[in-house]
Amino acid sequence: MIGRLAWVTTQEARGRDEDEPLGLAALDRAGVSVDVVDWDDHAVDWSLFDRVVLRSAWDYPRRLDEFSTWLESVDAVTDLVNPPALVRWSLDKQYLAELAEAGVPITPTVFVPPGSPACFPPGGVVVKPAVGAGSVDAASYGADQHEEATSHVTRLHAAGQVVLVQPFLRSIPEEGEWPMVFLDGRFSHAANKRVALPQAGTVDDLFAPERNVAHVATAAQTEVARAAVDLVSDRLGTPTYARVDLVRDDSGGFCVLEVELVEPSLFLAYAEPAAADRFAAALAH
Ligand SMILES: Nc1ncnc2c1ncn2[C@@H]1O[C@H](COP(=O)(O)OP(=O)(O)O)[C@@H](O)[C@H]1O
Ligand SMILES: [Mg+2]
Repeated sequence: MIGRLAWVTTQEARGRDEDEPLGLAALDRAGVSVDVVDWDDHAVDWSLFDRVVLRSAWDYPRRLDEFSTWLESVDAVTDLVNPPALVRWSLDKQYLAELAEAGVPITPTVFVPPGSPACFPPGGVVVKPAVGAGSVDAASYGADQHEEATSHVTRLHAAGQVVLVQPFLRSIPEEGEWPMVFLDGRFSHAANKRVALPQAGTVDDLFAPERNVAHVATAAQTEVARAAVDLVSDRLGTPTYARVDLVRDDSGGFCVLEVELVEPSLFLAYAEPAAADRFAAALAH
């Protein structure tokens, strides 16, 4: 059982994390003393905490070098959750190729490194950076907008990004996506979320607006999400928390859109109250 825990956020995210009041209340019930701190607050002595938990450091994609250095410095003096190897794996969506290779169904994706021309599947497409979050720098383009999509790819390449090109899955605006939450490697709960991805524009806030509701996971969903978490656990160790976002592909099956191990929102507000206590228990032991 740990004594003192740092709940890591950033100034811009203050008051915007739905998990925070529920998580903090559950940690309080578990008898853990918590400080909510900004990751870039130079006045903080991280070694004073038994555990440092990444929660709403949502500005990291645009400050990646600084954030990576910070991760290493914190890891050197205390216990970082999730550990840096898991965080690094999850920062770059090229992990989708690894999942596909292991037979885990993923959203059809072509990876386009800087220097290579983008080539688009017929119909609508989505362009997003390999390193990104909150839909920032992701956008969808219609079948007649591939020229605009090419400009977007060029912009991301100029910023040094590998680009992911995916067919636009119609099921996403229709049905949304299903965040599947795992605590200590065990499935905990699911939700359904709808994200308003800009058409041919990009998000300039920390994240695109979301509409979320409760959802009871089906066996088919749990199977796909578990396969993704098992692969990560086998290769890099079990994540304390993990969120696998599933979507429905054009054949009607479920596939992985992303695996979030950095600072995933955990949709505690849409789960049974016991989920927050499971989360606190995973952080406290
Ligand atoms: N292939 C796709 N088809 C339709 N919409 C997509 C597709 N990929 C992503 N989106 C939309 O864009 C949002 C952001 O993409 P995502 O892969 O989740 O990246 P991140 O959340 O890390 O920015 C998703 O929540 C979804 O609404
Ligand atoms: Mg997402």
